[in-house]
Amino acid sequence: MKQQRLFINGEWVEASASTELKSPYSGEPIAQIPAATIEDVDRAIEAAYEARAVMAAMPAHKRAAILEKLALLMTERAEEAAGILALEAAKPVTTAMAEVQRTIQTYKFAAEEAKRIHGETIPLDAAPGGEGRIAYTTREPLGVIGAITPFNFPLNLVAHKVGPAIAAGNTIVLKPAGQTPLSAYFIAELLHEAGLPAGALNVVTGSGRLVGDRIVTDDRVSMITFTGSPGVGIGIRAKAGLKRVTLELGSNAAVIVDKGVNLDKIVPRCVTGAFSNQGQVCISLQRVYVHEDEYDRFVEKFVALTQGLVVGDPLDPATDLSALIAPEENARVLQWIEEAKEQGTVVAIGGEVRDGVLLPTVLLNADQALKVSCQEAFAPIVVINKVSSVDEAIGHVNDSRFGLQAGIYTDHIHTALDAADKLHVGGVIINDIPTFRVDHMPYGGVKESGIGREGIKYAVEEMTEMKLVIFNRN
Ligand code: SIN
Repeated sequence: MKQQRLFINGEWVEASASTELKSPYSGEPIAQIPAATIEDVDRAIEAAYEARAVMAAMPAHKRAAILEKLALLMTERAEEAAGILALEAAKPVTTAMAEVQRTIQTYKFAAEEAKRIHGETIPLDAAPGGEGRIAYTTREPLGVIGAITPFNFPLNLVAHKVGPAIAAGNTIVLKPAGQTPLSAYFIAELLHEAGLPAGALNVVTGSGRLVGDRIVTDDRVSMITFTGSPGVGIGIRAKAGLKRVTLELGSNAAVIVDKGVNLDKIVPRCVTGAFSNQGQVCISLQRVYVHEDEYDRFVEKFVALTQGLVVGDPLDPATDLSALIAPEENARVLQWIEEAKEQGTVVAIGGEVRDGVLLPTVLLNADQALKVSCQEAFAPIVVINKVSSVDEAIGHVNDSRFGLQAGIYTDHIHTALDAADKLHVGGVIINDIPTFRVDHMPYGGVKESGIGREGIKYAVEEMTEMKLVIFNRN
């Protein structure tokens, strides 16, 4: 069994304690994971703090070259990377390989973005008294970035923090999710091989309260970038003081299906959006509002496709869905389904656990106030409700604490543009599911879905400080 070590100041460091990591699918032990002490976290922060000057002075082409090399190394070891994801996250290996390919793209985007971080010139003579002065802005790295990442995309959501941080000339202290630490240490290994200076990336695992809190409250850390639950995110913001904070906190994403659309084309996409990665995706399709003219045919097709999904071992390439990240999650979701049934919701398919795996579950006519509707399920559950108009559906979509992305299928341009105006979310996806994401687009939400944006260019903006320079020629 692998004995993982901490990664601090470019070295693999033994921790004084460790915890056992188990496969979410089989329950078998996979590795011993180091539990960092406060002293370990302090050493990691100090290493990142000391490495700031080296990274800030590194020319853009060198930062880009390190990220390009990382993308190359990951391409060479793609199968190994997918295997780690399948093992530690129970991510079906085909889905895991798709994440590896996206991660390679993300680092390539970061390499490109490193070369185009620039400011602008300001015409100061637009104001009386500004004559004879030249003004321009630059963007400077913030310094140490504290990155706290979730289990659902253990490689790519780390890449969305580490990639732009390096592109912008920052250093990083990374605390990956306790359930999926191996892929983060794998990235550290590759970045070390790619030539990243010692201290520029440090990886520490251990208790969220101890490790996470220390990173969030330490004055040497300039910014926290977090992806995870609203509760933890709000707590981070409260503790972070004047640090810059970006939060990506999930959602109960919805799609609207207007009358007259081609159901044969859209239903397979909706099934993918609802059940990919067992629904453990912040933009997983959790709520579908279908026009009454299409409702029955939509449900029939959706249930038929759901029936055909292969459930089982994540290491089997035929598997579509496997276990949730922890057995306790099954109990939570079954309780939510039970609550929905008691309130008259129909379970069209699923709603039970087989061999430790929660079956893909389709619920019909669920009230907006039920947990399956108004909270983030992070599980393979989808609610399909009937509406009499797109306007009614928009009202239901907006009736949420969250607002990450929403989708609308319609053949009418005015309906689409009207929905784009009215939907209160970070991204409106017209004629596709809300689960759509490519890695250079701006990504983030409103309300309890978070603050700030990811997507490399936008994350680089968050991770740099604008400086103004004025030269007086008078
Ligand atoms: C997330 O769950 O926030 C990430 C979704 C994605 O990158 O596809």
